[in-house]
Amino acid sequence: MDTIETRILNLKKELGPQTLILGHHYQRAGIVKLADRIGDSFGLAKAASESREAKNIVFCGVRFMAESAAILCRDDQRVYHPEPEAGCPMADMAPMDSVEYAWKTLTSRADFAGRSMSPVTYMNSHAPLKAFTGRHGGVVCTSSNAAKTMEWAWAKSDLVLFFPDEHLGRNTGKAMGLKDSEMKIWYPSKPDGGIDSLNGVRLLLWNGHCPVHMKFTLRDVNFIREHFPNAKIAVHPECTEEVVSRADAVGSTEFLVNYISKLPAKTQVFVGTEINLVDRLRRENPQIRVEALFRSLCPTMYKVNLQKLERTLISIREGDQNLEAVPMPPEIKNPARLALEQMLKLQGMN
Ligand code: 13P
Ligand code: SF4
Repeated sequence: MDTIETRILNLKKELGPQTLILGHHYQRAGIVKLADRIGDSFGLAKAASESREAKNIVFCGVRFMAESAAILCRDDQRVYHPEPEAGCPMADMAPMDSVEYAWKTLTSRADFAGRSMSPVTYMNSHAPLKAFTGRHGGVVCTSSNAAKTMEWAWAKSDLVLFFPDEHLGRNTGKAMGLKDSEMKIWYPSKPDGGIDSLNGVRLLLWNGHCPVHMKFTLRDVNFIREHFPNAKIAVHPECTEEVVSRADAVGSTEFLVNYISKLPAKTQVFVGTEINLVDRLRRENPQIRVEALFRSLCPTMYKVNLQKLERTLISIREGDQNLEAVPMPPEIKNPARLALEQMLKLQGMN
């Protein structure tokens, strides 16, 4: 039968191992079914850096993920993003002019004197911010290794400036034993970032957030605790601290996949992350009662679909001159790669 799925399967056969399709856990079910590898941001970055045979990497996810693959890949490899318009609003919350202003303002304050600072940048950021991080001796992290990267940064600096997710930064700091007084928020919209004093501060949190994970509230959690007292709650660390601190389990998308698959049969679990993943977890774990804490869709992840994937694969096969690989000029790629490779090194993978 001629369906888009069979056409894509045939294209994959024709293109062979030289073409690798990577898909993030938040992708639509159809994409997940056809991708060669599915994973969280860290797993996919690792897959891109390790792909030996592939000349073409087709990244089904959002732009910062495709960019990260383009930063890590060899010069003879090309990364294609089936929907270049699929960005990430959180990444947009840290534009470079504001980042440069923050760094300059902080490092020239009187109460910074004699101290040092390292940037730790969440994968969910634009490539120029990763390059900035590499140039300033920092490291990129994902939700699965934020603590390890902060530990590394504190071993060489007094202060960490964490971009761009305030919540992942705070949740990680808290889990590592930091007190509230040791963390302050940098507000890019306020003069001097709204920081009155740096005394006693170890972690500066950029005031960015993920709109998809902000939809999960303390009210949702309290409601579940009251009406379903035996149920588990598992959430992504991009949720607010009040949600994370009351959850039974917190971790990256890959962590959530593993955690849920290992729960005892018949457990009811409410999951606080993107809805395409929650729905898939329900289908793949019929022995568990998987529910959404709230149905929250990532609209930019959703922009990638089978039609766009098929078009990309056809263009690769035809050698279409109009097909653009994810651009990554060397002045961005080289310093950004330092920060990404530092992350891989900390995981013992480089
Ligand atoms: P993971 O790194 O957990 O896959 O998360 C990526 C993401 O975009 C979450 O919003
Ligand atoms: Fe960005 Fe949030 Fe979507 Fe992840 S879920 S890609 S952080 S908007």
